Amino acid sequence: MPPTALIVGQSVMKAFQHLSTQDLHTRRVEEAYRVVAECITAVDPAMRLYMFGSTAVYGVHEKGSDVDFVALSKTDVEDGKGEDAGTQVAKGLQAEFLGKLAKVVRQKHFSWNVEEVRRTRVPVIRVKGGSSVDFDITVNRRNGVRNSALLRAYFEQDPPCRWLSMGVKRWSKRAGLNASVVGGSITSYGFNLMVVYYLLQRGALRFIQPDAIDVANVAPVPPYLPLEPPRNDGAELGEQILDFLAFYMHEFDAARHVISLSRPGITTKEQLNWTKNAEDLARMNGEKINYQWCIEDPYELNLNVGRNVTPLKRDFLRKHLEKARETALLTTT
Ligand code: GTP
Ligand code: MG
Ligand code: MG
Repeated sequence: MPPTALIVGQSVMKAFQHLSTQDLHTRRVEEAYRVVAECITAVDPAMRLYMFGSTAVYGVHEKGSDVDFVALSKTDVEDGKGEDAGTQVAKGLQAEFLGKLAKVVRQKHFSWNVEEVRRTRVPVIRVKGGSSVDFDITVNRRNGVRNSALLRAYFEQDPPCRWLSMGVKRWSKRAGLNASVVGGSITSYGFNLMVVYYLLQRGALRFIQPDAIDVANVAPVPPYLPLEPPRNDGAELGEQILDFLAFYMHEFDAARHVISLSRPGITTKEQLNWTKNAEDLARMNGEKINYQWCIEDPYELNLNVGRNVTPLKRDFLRKHLEKARETALLTTT
């Protein structure tokens, strides 16, 4: 017999017990913001620093989570709905700025580990700041700020939904599904898109047009959004978790449909031309893109956030969805 919704909810609550004694206020990362902003100013005083990723999405900072930063120019911010340039020239300029920034960070904080990552889709520097927080810094890219603000706007409609998101994220990391762990294939961001898509399909959230999100209206440091304990002792959370798992196991048609926040209702692979043909074409161009588990990025043109999900990884995901029901998202073991 699989555990009841109440047991699932309470088990997941227990896994997050440590949060009740933690200071989750976003001011805890303001120090990191100040330090990074100082380094940015040393490279170019006209650049502005924005925080995005989980701290912005949830409005709380979980200990151990990295912080995502992006340096934006005045024009980037003013043209807050503009598309990010994906050209090699743009990437080159970004890498150049980040190279200078890495130098400054190393000078000012010689004990920190600063790594320039160039081979990713987006140039980034990854800083491990010893006892303080770790962070990623990118430049001239609005999409991260926009997609975080979009996810946040959804969670603000029903703040307790953050528990579902946090439960799923924790599970994805422990199960080896999350791209941040070895063998993982979907980022936390991808799992958040899955959570929100599920809630939209259930009518638990109202659709938000992605184009409505404007960087010019987003706070550089995300405001704190207090996290209250789950409602009715976790029973509701447990029901939501079981329903989320059932949705992706039995209802979502991975062979034909796309997880998407770009438009209300159903999006098909056919519609986006995310087909076997497109997979083969990409392969001929030396890219490995899979359209097995499709998650449409609301801002990046033609980008499958689930592109690393091979047929094997998709089966692995299904197996874990199954197992998650028995183990309350891997919190009982
Ligand atoms: P944790 O760091 O695991 O706590 O979660 P997080 O919510 O910060 O998510 P994550 O680090 O995965 O993502 C932070 C930001 O990176 C997102 O807001 C996205 O802008 C970007 N990002 C992460 N994964 C992808 C991806 O697969 N595709 C694209 N386009 N952007 C991504
Ligand atoms: Mg992050
Ligand atoms: Mg990150």
